[in-house]
Amino acid sequence: MLQRIIYDIDKDLFLQDFLINESLLTFYEDERVKNDHWSILRDHDSSTDVLRNFSDLKTKQLGIPVKARYYKLKANTQLMWHTDLGTKCAINYILNENSSSVLFGDWKNYQEFTYDAALLDVSKSHSVINNNTDRILLKLSIMDHTYTEVYEKLSELNLIQCTGHQ
Ligand SMILES: [Fe+2]
Repeated sequence: MLQRIIYDIDKDLFLQDFLINESLLTFYEDERVKNDHWSILRDHDSSTDVLRNFSDLKTKQLGIPVKARYYKLKANTQLMWHTDLGTKCAINYILNENSSSVLFGDWKNYQEFTYDAALLDVSKSHSVINNNTDRILLKLSIMDHTYTEVYEKLSELNLIQCTGHQ
């Protein structure tokens, strides 16, 4: 469900870039939901090249297409239980000091994980109950490769943290 990975990016660079672009974030919506506490900026909508370059870099490094996005979950809100639409798995980096857990399962029976950087199986139901700070994420969305396939690629690149496969 979740595998912690090596934090292989310059956090300050991306956090600065997030702040430059923050006003461009829009509330996430798809055919299932629309909400006012979870917002997104996609690489092609950014005013800077940082996200686009990161999509290109990681697409080359992993050998599979990935799309970089920023997300912000407002303080004291819950990202309700869901699976990601059109996304098989994702690599997430937390860009600020937010320590909230991601939950996998359902509302009465779930496993809780904290991480700084991780591969997540977002095809499985998950949720985040945020604490009193905004949660700022850099996410690499992977549309056409599974969690297990990407785990193998990260493993070949020595990017897996040695804390066991979960
Ligand atoms: Fe999600």
